[in-house]
Amino acid sequence: MSSVVSSVGFVCSSAAEQRTTVVEIQVIVAVQDSFGGISSLPPACQANKINNSKRAAVSFHFPNSREPPPAAATAAESYFPANHMTRPVFSNSDPDSDDPTRKAPASTGMRLVVPLQGVVQGRGGLILGSLIPCALFYFLQFYIKRHRSSPASSSSNPPSPSDSSTDLVELPRSSSRLNLSGRGSIGRTRLSARGSSISKPNDSAYYIGLDRFLEDPYDEIKNPDGIINLGLTENRLSLDLIEKWLSNNFRDSALGKLGLNISGISAYQQFDGLFELKVAMAGYMSEVMGREVSYNPLQMVLTSGATPAIEMLFFCLADQGDAFLIPTPYYPGFDRDIRYRTGVELIPVHCRSSDDFVLSMTALEQAFNNARKRGQKVRGILISNPSNPVGNLMTRELLYDLLDFAREKNIHIISDEIFSGSNHGNKEFVSMAEMIESEDFDRDRVHIIYGLSKDLSLPGFRVGVIYSFNENVLAASRRLARFSSVSVPTQRLLVSMLTDTGFIRDYQKENTQRLRRMYELFTAGLNEVGVECSRSDAGFCCWVNMSRLINPYNEKGEMELWQKLLNVAKINVTPGSACHCIEHGWFRFCFTTLREKDIPLVAERIRRVVESCRPPA
Ligand SMILES: Cc1ncc(COP(=O)(O)O)c(C=O)c1O
Repeated sequence: MSSVVSSVGFVCSSAAEQRTTVVEIQVIVAVQDSFGGISSLPPACQANKINNSKRAAVSFHFPNSREPPPAAATAAESYFPANHMTRPVFSNSDPDSDDPTRKAPASTGMRLVVPLQGVVQGRGGLILGSLIPCALFYFLQFYIKRHRSSPASSSSNPPSPSDSSTDLVELPRSSSRLNLSGRGSIGRTRLSARGSSISKPNDSAYYIGLDRFLEDPYDEIKNPDGIINLGLTENRLSLDLIEKWLSNNFRDSALGKLGLNISGISAYQQFDGLFELKVAMAGYMSEVMGREVSYNPLQMVLTSGATPAIEMLFFCLADQGDAFLIPTPYYPGFDRDIRYRTGVELIPVHCRSSDDFVLSMTALEQAFNNARKRGQKVRGILISNPSNPVGNLMTRELLYDLLDFAREKNIHIISDEIFSGSNHGNKEFVSMAEMIESEDFDRDRVHIIYGLSKDLSLPGFRVGVIYSFNENVLAASRRLARFSSVSVPTQRLLVSMLTDTGFIRDYQKENTQRLRRMYELFTAGLNEVGVECSRSDAGFCCWVNMSRLINPYNEKGEMELWQKLLNVAKINVTPGSACHCIEHGWFRFCFTTLREKDIPLVAERIRRVVESCRPPA
């Protein structure tokens, strides 16, 4: 009669240099013949290597008694202490040990192998010898399950995609929650340094003000005490014209006049834009920028808004840690849009009220030299023409000077001309493209940014343009465009809109008139309550001097006034410090989100703040 004896051994051993913990489990089941000898080599149960987080599937090998133990098991054996209870089993070197007639080496050997031998020998041995290993197996599995940390390793047989959904539905809720819970988590979920720095709360008054507006937006009926937003450069003055065109043309332009051409809108297209849209865009840009220049569609890369277009150019022109010069005050979004991912530095070149905030070439030269002295590599200059926030335009002479400066210093010029069609004053807008066409300048260093967010009041459509004379920049930008392409239905719709020359001309004329009228009414409203605006000729903002209302005259005083405007008057504006203005007490007021009838309310709210700031008589 034979009985089954068993032994379960655990060996844990760390191999420090491999940074792994090896857990070996041996389950030894020996068939004991009636003479008390071992008639067959026990199956070796060998656990795989288990890493530090104790994730592992346990595999068992039951070798034929004539076969040598698996290599891994042999290797694992070396971790056993010399006198370990199971060692003699594996080191059984008797070639005849599988001979059933042969007597077992000795019952003392059995004792070494099976500590429970005394219990299991005899008549009850068969039963107990079967139950004990089963109980130990069960315990082991339970132990391993409890110490497992990753649901991914919870099964040695991951569910196949085909059965996953039904299995998941049928999974008992408590069990699925156990698997998903954070048991065994060894630390907080980490972000990259980049991700962490971007995820920090906004520290710019520009974004804080916009967030506050979203929490409590003014509505004439539903929230009359809410915040009025003058902090966003969005033009709502002519949306009715866009709406009318879209209601008449949306279907045909987006889906095709001859009915739905699904592959024309659903298939992959060139990520840098449909050629038809580039042609239409070239025509539109000539129209709004004064028809003096013709734009070449082959020099265009279309992007999802001007923001990625700018970032892409910086990515192509400067390396991390390099710098660009930028006249102040500047659009507060540039700090985030340019620096977040490229790591390019922006060096302010301060413009002053005494120069009407016009860029001085002396200040530019100085900023360049100072940067060089600090060891910074200056790769270019970024201008915004027309300027946001000031609303002034660069003269032809200034553009000449800038081109000379760029050639002399061997740097690039990026000219952001996104407001060029929103010129409501009497001054002429001159594009860098026109300068390049008219004179023999070094074209390779000039790059223009344009888009439809401002002049065509379509910021939600997300369409921007890189217009460059540099083939390498264009080649790189075309490739980068895959990360920020415009959806094809949007492009098809815009081809129709931009080539509707009647609509574009009417829109342009009407929008300019509305901009001019609103600007006049708004600045007059502010003047009435004692707030003075500098002259602006383009764009959606007034650049407002409130310096006499701040006390103390420093950035702190400016921020206190900004908070009063936001929290007391419930008007969100952008303080000059967010635009890096060197003089305190200037604010940007965007007037194109308002309706004419809102102006008295805005003026009244500002008047209250102005009066509260006046020094007592
Ligand atoms: C000067 C300037 N450039 C670029 C942008 C970004 O435009 P977009 O919304 O098309 O990304 C803005 C938006 O206000 C801007 O004022």
